[in-house]
Amino acid sequence: MLFFGGDYNPEQWPEEVWVEDVALMRQAGVTAVSLGVFAWSQLEPEEGRFEFGWLDRIMDRLHAGGIKVALATPTASPPPWFTLAHPEGLPVTADGVRLTHGSRDTYCVSAPPYRAAARRIAAELAGRYARHPALALWHVHNEYGTDCRCDLTAASFRGWLEKRHGSLDALNEAWTTTFWSQRYSDWAQITPPRATQYLPNPAHVLDFRRFLSDELLGAFVEQRDLLRAANPDVPITTNFVQGGWVSVDHARWAAELDVVAVDHYPAAADDEAEAETAFGGDLARGWAHRDGGEWLLMETAPNLIYTPGRMHAKEPGRLTRHSLNYLARGSRGAMYFQWRQPRGGAELFHSALVPHAGPDSPVFREAIGLGRTLKALTGKVAGPVVADVAVGWDAPSWWALQAGGLPAAEIDYLAGVRQVHRALYRSGFATDFVFPGLDEIGARLRSYRIVVLPFLYLVSDASAAALRDFVAGGGHLVVGHLSGIADPAGRIRLGGYPGAFRDLLGVRVVEWRPLAPGTTIALDDGEQGVRWSERVETAGAATLVRYAGDVLAGAPAITRNRYGSGSAWYVSPGLDDDALRRLLDRVAAEAGVAPVLPGLPPRFEAVRRGELLFLFNHGDVPGTVPLPGPARVVVSGREVSGSLTVPPGGATAIRLE
Ligand code: GLA
Repeated sequence: MLFFGGDYNPEQWPEEVWVEDVALMRQAGVTAVSLGVFAWSQLEPEEGRFEFGWLDRIMDRLHAGGIKVALATPTASPPPWFTLAHPEGLPVTADGVRLTHGSRDTYCVSAPPYRAAARRIAAELAGRYARHPALALWHVHNEYGTDCRCDLTAASFRGWLEKRHGSLDALNEAWTTTFWSQRYSDWAQITPPRATQYLPNPAHVLDFRRFLSDELLGAFVEQRDLLRAANPDVPITTNFVQGGWVSVDHARWAAELDVVAVDHYPAAADDEAEAETAFGGDLARGWAHRDGGEWLLMETAPNLIYTPGRMHAKEPGRLTRHSLNYLARGSRGAMYFQWRQPRGGAELFHSALVPHAGPDSPVFREAIGLGRTLKALTGKVAGPVVADVAVGWDAPSWWALQAGGLPAAEIDYLAGVRQVHRALYRSGFATDFVFPGLDEIGARLRSYRIVVLPFLYLVSDASAAALRDFVAGGGHLVVGHLSGIADPAGRIRLGGYPGAFRDLLGVRVVEWRPLAPGTTIALDDGEQGVRWSERVETAGAATLVRYAGDVLAGAPAITRNRYGSGSAWYVSPGLDDDALRRLLDRVAAEAGVAPVLPGLPPRFEAVRRGELLFLFNHGDVPGTVPLPGPARVVVSGREVSGSLTVPPGGATAIRLE
């Protein structure tokens, strides 16, 4: 089955509407819905008193309609009775403000009463529905990521720190507490990072974010184990959300999930939304590498894109293109937030497959077409996306690069990684993500010819060794500035940057010279450096490009070091998108890496998954794609050879014969 549907909130509607819902779902070819994500107050109206009648009725009705259910545990939004009875279960901000109910996600994951209440409702649901014939997937919680700094969190944090560091001396050493007289002489002195006078200790903040990731994971695992015990055959997931505020290391969490599920909301109105879709799909596939790269798009917006401060309605065909793009990049389907647009509540204008206007609307009509396409693709979309190129992703480096006191306020981890991915995407290379912080990194690297590391600020000795072996064995490694700078505790690797990779790169960086916004530095190949420059000395590497301006004139800017049978490139300046793309094209040419399908018209995209080749025309004119051989259009069954024309805004999947 391909998942096609979305978050369904029947609790917001009278039961007559449910009848129409199921009829419309069948009309659109919906195969599955996420149910009960925010239904705690309807399921447990008073502590310990449960009302499952309505959920029984809708589960049965969906089952009768042939629609599967991803049944949620509603623990992301405790009801008001919970917070009144257990005020210690409310989260406290870094400023010491205890939040109260009135929104969602208002809980402290370290508070025993919250954990007990979450286990109780999860166990009730498990007991009642684990063998319901409509149940296809458990959807634990929603978008784990809530942050709390209360005393209960503090106690749990200390326990985690004792395990991580072993002793207070080791913690003091790892956190460099000699700086500003922060030496701890008793565990009880350590709190979560809270409002303080000036810059906090970055190692303290970093460890807190790691702790929070593990603490939230503990809450997930507790529910997962309850659900699994009730029926080991039903897979279990939780929907990942991404953002600078989210202290969840998804690469590590993925090992604990049966299915990696991701919420993804591109936020640009122009072609950047397509680049972002590709990025989200590729990153999710990386997290799902243990499952052959298969993951599930659990939420995206059916229609409106929230560009900052403004909604942007998707142009006709865009919903279909985005959905098929996630599918091509490894998703097991396409699910949306949400099925029916609500009449009220905080997100009353968020788009839905059935909007306020009702089914007689462009979005619902497009959903019907998409449902037909997905039905035709069912059973045919399988197998891996094979990529020769991988980009490094490391949540702790992102967290570390959010500290104050960095050499430039504009350093933006996500933007840096996105830029590398965008350059590879625009050149048409299939691109994966790898996670240098994971133990299995050495084995993972062996599948790639090129690995690019933007902003891999924190690196362990073991990861650095795995990357060295990758190059020695013939790989091409491209390292950007601010990579390899610190050990996992955030302590600088001394002797010249980038300490972890100096030998491998054959360079030594002795001085950083970040550029002011809007200024550039000339390079001797005619490109301009942006955002960043630094004084690089070579120690074995060949200089490919030099700085041509400022006090750096004549100094190395881009270098390449032959190491074993591979090459390690160092890119010291920031580059704009075009210059970065030209550079990565050059690396690809040297590494013998080709795009998925050469010769695509402008604004076209090709993605190969298993035996299928997906073609996307994001432009507003038709385009003709040269095909490597005879092929068959999957949906229509039509045979094509030589070339295929894709209409403006169109997407199609073909099988090469
Ligand atoms: C998230 C949540 C949904 C909804 C959407 C809105 O992904 O999981 O409940 O709030 O965002 O974009």
